[in-house]
Amino acid sequence: MTSAKSPVSRRGLLTGGALAAGGTLVGAVAVAAGRSEDTAATPAQVPVATVGEAIEPFHGVRQSGVATEPQAHAAFVAFTLRPGTDRAALGRMMRLLSDDAARLTQGRPALADTEPELGLLPARLTVTFGFGPGLFAAAGLDERRPPSVVDLPSFSIDRLQPRWSGGDLLVQICADDPITVAHAQRVLVKDSRPFATVRWVQQGFRRAAGAEPGRTQRNLFGQLDGTANPKPGGPLETAVWIPDGPDWLRDGTTLVLRRISMNLETWDLLGRTDREFSVGRRLDTGAPLTGAAEHDEPDFAAVGPDGLTVIPDFSHLTRAHVSDDRFRILRRPYNYDGVPAADGTADSGLIFASYQADITRQFLPIQQRLAERDLLNEWTTPIGSAVFAIPPGCPEGGWVGQQLLG
Ligand code: HEM
Repeated sequence: MTSAKSPVSRRGLLTGGALAAGGTLVGAVAVAAGRSEDTAATPAQVPVATVGEAIEPFHGVRQSGVATEPQAHAAFVAFTLRPGTDRAALGRMMRLLSDDAARLTQGRPALADTEPELGLLPARLTVTFGFGPGLFAAAGLDERRPPSVVDLPSFSIDRLQPRWSGGDLLVQICADDPITVAHAQRVLVKDSRPFATVRWVQQGFRRAAGAEPGRTQRNLFGQLDGTANPKPGGPLETAVWIPDGPDWLRDGTTLVLRRISMNLETWDLLGRTDREFSVGRRLDTGAPLTGAAEHDEPDFAAVGPDGLTVIPDFSHLTRAHVSDDRFRILRRPYNYDGVPAADGTADSGLIFASYQADITRQFLPIQQRLAERDLLNEWTTPIGSAVFAIPPGCPEGGWVGQQLLG
């Protein structure tokens, strides 16, 4: 939900790029309720917006939270529908949850919000809804489920745990402030109670808002993670958003969520060169081993003095690389750092979120290649897996999923 629909143009505020805020650069933002919304102003005249006041749109053709510049904090909440939550009940639930999201994302408390003060700082809050296979079944709409929205086949590398897998409904909550995320989560969970129970919650984080503006984030292995993502306006348009098909799916997408544990203890034993070989990129700049800068094109054919390819054939980069734009995926991962074991061993990893128009055509071949051979597999283990259809957005007065369930 960027470009023409971005809060910047909608509200006529701030500059198209970045603005100085308290000596730091922050991404393009709009100012939440309480500030002038219509003043066209040059950067010099614009009052400084705080991270807390920045807003992302809720209403629009597409749901926010996919193409949105990733916020610092996320909670992915999956629900199991209660027996008897049929199509009509699902409609009531989605109307209610969409109303909560529409208010909270704009810095307004939800209806009957028990902590209204916590609803006032949106901090670029986005709430994105996803429909799992079980929701289509509960609504009696199995024939409308996109064929690729089914449990993934099992891969040899998988050690999946039910406590991190599956789900009928997903609510993805992202914001630059952890209290904003926690409050939105509480409101949405509370309002879903008559219809569903929480199946799992996964909380993740990236760099704090404004800490490294415009830079690719780092995961807990220290790698720059997200370099080769498709950029908005280009391949993103065709590879991520569903371009045609029924109303209820057009301008939607699909999400594969994998919880991947990362073994920091054994990763620590590796030398820097081996760490860089395993991915095929440098740790400091993120440049491919055949290049000098992060966005240099990798040269997979380049051979070193030892006669071997400079970027190892089994590196993550070689195995994951997609050269045809139509088959690319949008990765929007969050780091997680759970409660350490009693001896201090970390429980760390990646909440790997991949968005694509078609899971079978785009995600599966990459995952298949990585499962067959990828040096990174030595230190990473998928422990959770879930798939969801992300329906299109909704106009003001509408609710997410209305075309399907209404
Ligand atoms: C903990 C697990 C993982 C880690 C630590 C990891 C890390 C990375 C890193 C550091 C890069 C290079 C920089 C970049 O372009 O972002 C990368 C690239 C990539 N990864 Fe992963 N990744 C993980 C899992 C996965 C999974 C499960 C998939 C898909 C099934 C995947 C697909 C990709 C793709 C498509 C690229 C871009 C390749 C290219 O075209 O250059 N990754 N990953």
